[in-house]
Amino acid sequence: MNLTIIGTGYVGLVTGACFAEVGHRVICVDNDASKVELLKRGGIPIYEPGLQEMVQKNTASGRLSFTNNTAEGVEKSDVIFIAVPTPPQPDGSVDMSFIERVARDIAAAMTEYKIVVDKSTVPVKTGDRVSETIKRYCKAKVDFDVVSNPEFLREGFAVGDLMKPDRIVIGVRSQRAVAAMKEIYTPFKAPIIITDVNSAELIKHAANSFLALKISYINAISVVCEAAGANVMQVAEGIGLDERIGRRFLNPGIGFGGSCFPKDLSAFIKISEQVGYSFRLLQEVQRINSEQMERFVKKITDTLWVLKDKKIGVLGLAFKQNTDDVRMSPAIDLCQRLQKEGAALRVHDPQAMEKAKPLLKGVTYVDDMNAVAEGCDALVIATEWEEFKALDLDRAQKALTHPIMFDGRNLFDPAEMGKRGWIYKSIGR
Ligand code: UGA
Repeated sequence: MNLTIIGTGYVGLVTGACFAEVGHRVICVDNDASKVELLKRGGIPIYEPGLQEMVQKNTASGRLSFTNNTAEGVEKSDVIFIAVPTPPQPDGSVDMSFIERVARDIAAAMTEYKIVVDKSTVPVKTGDRVSETIKRYCKAKVDFDVVSNPEFLREGFAVGDLMKPDRIVIGVRSQRAVAAMKEIYTPFKAPIIITDVNSAELIKHAANSFLALKISYINAISVVCEAAGANVMQVAEGIGLDERIGRRFLNPGIGFGGSCFPKDLSAFIKISEQVGYSFRLLQEVQRINSEQMERFVKKITDTLWVLKDKKIGVLGLAFKQNTDDVRMSPAIDLCQRLQKEGAALRVHDPQAMEKAKPLLKGVTYVDDMNAVAEGCDALVIATEWEEFKALDLDRAQKALTHPIMFDGRNLFDPAEMGKRGWIYKSIGR
């Protein structure tokens, strides 16, 4: 099918590449001319395993193309996906101006029936708003459908999540749109759930809030474990093997971050409030998340006492592994808190150092993870990168003034670290 994706952020670009990969003809539109130029040259603006190869392959075959002309994208395609940002506003509600702008642009360019699909994470009832906007701004007064098709990909695993999704949710009003959407998604061989538009929009916020709740739950359990002398990893294993619970998203740490969970939680609390429900359970999820960070910083200050004039090595800046994304990263938040206490930092991340530089100033960026500990008073693990498990512990031990590690992601075994002579403090054990 001929498809257009408006917005080449994480969701838009990965969706476009994967649609082209399964044989559709895809036009990706972005209003950032420099980004479009970069993509046309085969570069990609983000680090995402497997994406660059997929973009290059499908661009070369002619199935994937890029433009900054929305009208061209609307004209040439039957189905237009909206994948633009929906950033948070200071009060927690969602800034819908990008979606509204795109809806108007699509309307202005429509001369025949189109299916307009919202892929961005939006508040319930956005579909109605988009329909009204298109009706108002479409001079040609043609027929159209508005569909909600939320995306569930995780950064760092985006290509795999999109090619092999657990489910595909399609919120739709007409049978004509159902048929087209099924045709687009049949190659992905995943269960397709057809719902009404409002429910599809809600599914996205409800799913992300539930996953955040799961993380806060295990983080709360980690506090109880620590106080009671139990091991949270064993508890996670023990409850996670119950199929009704599941082991995934039960990894304790310094809290969740990124551009989705914090924003979607605030938005969902606000949306619920607007329809008359006070979602106190989710407020508690937020509270547990921020306390988790405070507790970790306290662990560091309790051990090192005064941080002023101390040097701390920090491994990890991205908000999680396999990404260069530092938006709302707990690791950056942690670094800034340590800096505020007067500590000097040596930091390393396998992918995120360039993106961290504008946010995190006055630190020493170190290219080699094994060189971070040099001259430091302690080492901190802030992101769950798999490669940190291969850290040269002997070298780090010699480089530190005293072998102290604060592991905010439970990457090492406490008994093993104790045997090696480390003062090792992790989460909930
Ligand atoms: C999340 C959801 O997992 C996706 O399904 C969704 O599509 C996406 O948001 C979105 O709305 O676009 P993402 O933000 O990329 O994906 O990252 P996650 O893998 O969910 O991790 C989020 C945060 O939770 C990270 O800071 C991570 O370190 C933390 N986390 C995750 C934990 O602390 N413990 C865990 O067990 C899992």
